[in-house]
Amino acid sequence: MLSYLHRYHAGNFADVHKHLLLSRVLTALGRKPAPYCVIDTHAAEGVYDLGAPDAVKSGEAAEGVARFLALAAPPSLAQTYREAAADPACYPGSPMLALRMMRADDRLLCVELHPQAIAALKGATKGDPRVHLHKRDALEALVALVPPAEKRGVAVIDPAYEVKDEYRSVPAAVKKAFARWRGGIYFVWYPLLPEARHLDLLAGFAGGGFPEVVASEWVRRDPGSGRGLYGSGVVVVNPPFRFAEEAAELGVWLETAGFGGSHTLTRFGE
Ligand SMILES: C[S@@+](CC[C@H](N)C(=O)[O-])C[C@H]1O[C@@H](n2cnc3c(N)ncnc32)[C@H](O)[C@@H]1O
Repeated sequence: MLSYLHRYHAGNFADVHKHLLLSRVLTALGRKPAPYCVIDTHAAEGVYDLGAPDAVKSGEAAEGVARFLALAAPPSLAQTYREAAADPACYPGSPMLALRMMRADDRLLCVELHPQAIAALKGATKGDPRVHLHKRDALEALVALVPPAEKRGVAVIDPAYEVKDEYRSVPAAVKKAFARWRGGIYFVWYPLLPEARHLDLLAGFAGGGFPEVVASEWVRRDPGSGRGLYGSGVVVVNPPFRFAEEAAELGVWLETAGFGGSHTLTRFGE
């Protein structure tokens, strides 16, 4: 039973962290002329009106993207995401950010199960021939849909972690997908919560036999200072050239410009 709807959280600090780094992966993919494929396994609704009552009620976007857009001296690495996120009436979720950055020959495969989310996504992407929607289970689809015909691209894996087993099933599914598509980039978001279940997910990636993995964590507040999400994590398997350096540079800027919080970057692999 799916209850999570991203509209209550769109544009929060975790979305800023995730979408800013995703924009760097997509920029790297766009440097070569050969087409690429984005497989968005947890696509959600696609686009969000941050002024709508559902979004305003949580106040999360005010502390996230609104705060981000007000930061001084943004580096050029932040430019694409800043432009994409500039209009609060249509904040782009991961599929719309991808579509904005993709070229005419690139493809987007969206996977989503929530009836309301997939209906919204269908409306948001209607008429775009680059988009293919799949109403099926995310991790099952991840393994089934790789390798894409393009052979280059990224799988964006962004569960709501309502099912606690996802901290283990996500790295296991990426391992299976990687066995079929070794050239793919795997971009995984995870929450930092006081229960620290993300350590299971990181252990799965550290021991998964992947050649190169980068983990970027944005810690917004002291984990002991309250309940709920205290930070945001992104793991990238097969990161593009200079992705880790770019993430580190963006982290230093966010820290010094006053986004609130601190950044750590870890590299591992076998
Ligand atoms: C955190 S949201 C994704 C946000 C989106 N990636 C973005 O950045 O804009 C997670 C989404 O995954 C969907 N979801 C959860 N479990 C799923 C499953 N087993 N299969 C497919 N979709 C699932 C939820 O309905 C929800 O829309």
